[in-house]
Amino acid sequence: MPQLIFLCGFMGSGKSTIGQLLATELGIDFQDLDLKIEENAGKSIPDIFKDSGETGFRRIERETLLQVIRNSEGVVALGGGSLQDQQLVDHIKLNGLLVFIETPISVILERICKDESRPLLLDKEGKLKSREKLKDELISLYKNRLPFYEQADIRLVNDGQQTAQNIAEQLLKKIKTHVSSY
Ligand code: S3P
Repeated sequence: MPQLIFLCGFMGSGKSTIGQLLATELGIDFQDLDLKIEENAGKSIPDIFKDSGETGFRRIERETLLQVIRNSEGVVALGGGSLQDQQLVDHIKLNGLLVFIETPISVILERICKDESRPLLLDKEGKLKSREKLKDELISLYKNRLPFYEQADIRLVNDGQQTAQNIAEQLLKKIKTHVSSY
């Protein structure tokens, strides 16, 4: 098994839930990059965005990810925007296995459109953006991020029709097949 297994995908794709279940199946550690960022910064993600903006958040996110790659083993659930550039994607793939949890944007929208804990979904006044605006913005963000997600070694669809446990089991099978083919 690779020492590190990274789960990437858009907000609300189920990275953390599936990642935790996968780690349990494999009997290895699980880390959620968002939680690690909050631990490092000593404040919540919404507060990081408030105090340092998205640019400040991305800097802490990158530093935390590089630190996790250096010091950890196990399954790591990334944030939806963690794959910031090609160099970072290459570095991740050099150090572990990258999995893309692919979820249709319509399912994502249903899951996250009322979630006030995700700063990208809020307007300048801190209120949830309208559904129409969110839809347009998320589609465009998804398109920009897809070329990075698509470089994953393994791709798995989570369309909301199956349980997280089921998806984690499918993922485990795919990982075993992938590893044994090398
Ligand atoms: C973000 C996704 C969030 C979190 C932050 C920014 C993004 O993580 O890192 O709010 O840019 O898509 P999840 O993908 O776990 O929601």
